[in-house]
Amino acid sequence: MKTYELQNTTIWSFPDRGNWATHKGDYRGNWSPHIPKNLILKYTKQNDLILDCFAGSGTTLIEAKLLNRNAIGIDINNDALNISKERLHFDCHNSAKIELYQCDAKKMTMIKDNSIDFICTHPPYANIIKYSKNLENDLSLLDYKDFLLHIDKVSKELYRVLKQGHNCSFMIGDIRKNGNVIPLAFNTMQVFLNNGFILKEIIIKEQHNCGSTKYWQDKIRNLNFYLLAHEYIFILSK
Ligand SMILES: C[S@@+](CC[C@H](N)C(=O)[O-])C[C@H]1O[C@@H](n2cnc3c(N)ncnc32)[C@H](O)[C@@H]1O
Repeated sequence: MKTYELQNTTIWSFPDRGNWATHKGDYRGNWSPHIPKNLILKYTKQNDLILDCFAGSGTTLIEAKLLNRNAIGIDINNDALNISKERLHFDCHNSAKIELYQCDAKKMTMIKDNSIDFICTHPPYANIIKYSKNLENDLSLLDYKDFLLHIDKVSKELYRVLKQGHNCSFMIGDIRKNGNVIPLAFNTMQVFLNNGFILKEIIIKEQHNCGSTKYWQDKIRNLNFYLLAHEYIFILSK
C-alpha cells in the first residue's frame, strides 16, 4: 500500500480534496480531510485525545477514528452533529472513542482542565457562511468585530482544556468587504496570542473549488482587486 505523503512545507494545496471513508464535500465550508489528517499525524500519537470544538460535518472526527485517536466533537448546531454521527457510523477495527456534544465552544463544561492532547478545529469565518438562521451563540451570525469578542472567550476556553506544552491548530480565512481586505485570520491569531498561546507555525493553504471564485472569475479582469484564494492554518502551543 502506498504511504500517505505528509506536507513538509508551510504551503499546502490539495486540488483533490479527498473522499475516502465517509468523507463528503457537501457541508458548506467544510475542510478537506487532508488537513486534519496531516495535523493529526504530525502532532499526535495513537490513543491521544483530540478536540474539534467547531466539528461541523465531522471531518476531523472521522480522521481521528481512522487514525485510532480518541476525540471530542463539539458543535452549537444539532443538525451538524447529526451529520457527524451518521458519518462516524463505520467500522475500522480499532479502539478509538469519539464523543459528540451539542455545546457552545465558549463554555465546554464537560471537558476538564489540561486534559486535551491536541486541538484541531475550523471556526466559521465570522458571518461569511451562516450555519443557522438564529441559533443562540452561533458565531457564524456575527460580524467580524463581534466574532473577535466571542473568539476571545473561545481561545481562553481552549487554553484551559489543553495540556501544558501541547498544540492547538485552527484554519481561518480573511474577508473582503467593499474591495478592501479585513485580516480576520491574523486578528484571530492575535486573540490567541493575547491569551497566552505561543505561535509555532503559520501555514498558507491554497483554496480550490470555492463557489464565489467561480462567480467572480469572468468579472475580475475589470475590477481593481484580486480573488482571495488562500486560508491560514495556525499552530500554537500552550
Ligand atoms: C467551518 S464549519 C466547520 C466545518 C468542519 N471542519 C467540517 O469539515 O465539516 C464551523 C462550524 O462551527 C459551528 N459553530 C458556530 N458557532 C459555534 C459555537 N459557538 N460553538 C460551537 N460550534 C459553533 C457551526 O455550526 C459550524 O458547523
